[in-house]
Amino acid sequence: MSSLDLLFEAALAVQAKAYAPYSRFKVGAAIRTPNGGVFAGCNVEIAAYPEGSCAETAAISAMVAAGESRIAEVVVVGDGDALVTPCGGCRQRIREFAPAETPIHVAGPEGIRRSFTLDELLPFAFGPDNLSA
Ligand code: THU
Repeated sequence: MSSLDLLFEAALAVQAKAYAPYSRFKVGAAIRTPNGGVFAGCNVEIAAYPEGSCAETAAISAMVAAGESRIAEVVVVGDGDALVTPCGGCRQRIREFAPAETPIHVAGPEGIRRSFTLDELLPFAFGPDNLSA
């Protein structure tokens, strides 16, 4: 199985664990780091709707908690016909840990539907480089 297949499988497995009783829209995300680490996360909704969190944010937290801070590749999986691309806030969170050329793969339950670079999803991004002297 390729590393991308494994990343998709990790995203699909964690999607099933999403806690989304309000939207009923379960999302899974998996990150591969340059070291080969794989970190997955799902969306978690709460009754105070705006305080829910996205799958990508959870995957980033798992990565950081494990002591890693670089993203090499991302897979996001969601249901429905439309592409489940990361929301604006998550694009910016991914940017914190990933360079412009990082692949972001958008998947449905059947597999990867389309691949973007981070730069395509968040052009002219503000990032950590802006704050370095
Ligand atoms: N959601 C994600 O977790 N990631 C995305 O890329 C898009 C949206 C979640 C947030 C919310 O729990 C549900 O999907 C519906 O918006």
